[in-house]
Amino acid sequence: MSKFWSPIVHQLTPYVPGEQPKINDLLKLNTNENPYGPSPKVITALQAEAADTLRLYPDPNSDHLKSAIAQYHGLQSNQVFVGNGSDEVLAHVFQALFQHAQPLLFPDITYSFYPVYCRLYGIQSDTIPLNGDFEIDVDHFIRPNGGIIFPNPNAPTGIPLALSQIERLLKANQETVVVVDEAYVDFGTESAVQLIAQYPNLLVTHTLSKARSLAGLRVGYAVGHADLIEALIRVKDSFNSYPIDRFAEAGAVAAMRDVDYFQKTCAKVVQTRTWLVKALQDIGFIVLPSGANFIFARHPLRDGEWLTSQLRAQNIIVRHFKKPVRISPFLRITIGTDMESERLVTALKVIV
Ligand SMILES: Cc1ncc(COP(=O)(O)O)c(C=O)c1O
Repeated sequence: MSKFWSPIVHQLTPYVPGEQPKINDLLKLNTNENPYGPSPKVITALQAEAADTLRLYPDPNSDHLKSAIAQYHGLQSNQVFVGNGSDEVLAHVFQALFQHAQPLLFPDITYSFYPVYCRLYGIQSDTIPLNGDFEIDVDHFIRPNGGIIFPNPNAPTGIPLALSQIERLLKANQETVVVVDEAYVDFGTESAVQLIAQYPNLLVTHTLSKARSLAGLRVGYAVGHADLIEALIRVKDSFNSYPIDRFAEAGAVAAMRDVDYFQKTCAKVVQTRTWLVKALQDIGFIVLPSGANFIFARHPLRDGEWLTSQLRAQNIIVRHFKKPVRISPFLRITIGTDMESERLVTALKVIV
């Protein structure tokens, strides 16, 4: 606490990221990183960027990157916004599109950064409870609001929401912006990007941190109607003109273009997920259906916090949320390589 702080700082409850411990022989399954490295073409592009040109500022508009993203999704460049990780993109979304008289709506169990941005930007919000199966019930979002946001698949549950449900919501809610946070969509969930042409109030956010193995590079983006993108650009240009540095742009362009590598690594993660779900069910775990690169699982006879600490004693780190109480029995486990998943199952067999 300091007398020098702005009043708002006293009221903030910052987001707590999953830890990044420095321990040897660590099996890190807590922050949903990809177990496979980025495309070799990304590494080549980054090496080429380590040059004299670093004395120059990067392109403030990231034109090459916007064009690579637009091409990948079959959109125009003016339908794309890029930022320093999708967290930064989301921050701008909250400020540019959600500061209204009515409350923003998001699920009660969801990405815990959303309430943090609400506090930072003074946005009122109402949380909409997931149903008894931890699913988003679209009907409950159809009510007056200042905007709607949810991840698909949801985090930390991993449960996907059908595109038909998203379209139902969009049909019923045309006066405010609906943001679908597709951080994990490439691991088997249907993307809402195809609905952008029909719904000018739909914004879809993506990250290169998960499916494109680039959490260390910090690149995320949003796609939607050019008017929504313009709002984000106005906020960005009032905050930081150069959120995408020269390495980030070169690496992200190469990653977006290497579709073959991206599809192969995603397919491998999905294949390992199928194996892991079955292996955990065989030792008594209940696993929620996942369309993500992580699973949400509980054991009917074992406490979530206890399981997490037992795994930790074996240098295996998973993510546990004490709150809300409804999810405290669960572990959120990132899908690793086959060998890593086997190590996890071997450890859990002994623990349970
Ligand atoms: C649902 C969701 N959205 C967005 C992000 C942010 O990703 P990044 O800032 O790495 O792009 C995360 C990160 O874990 C996430 O889980």
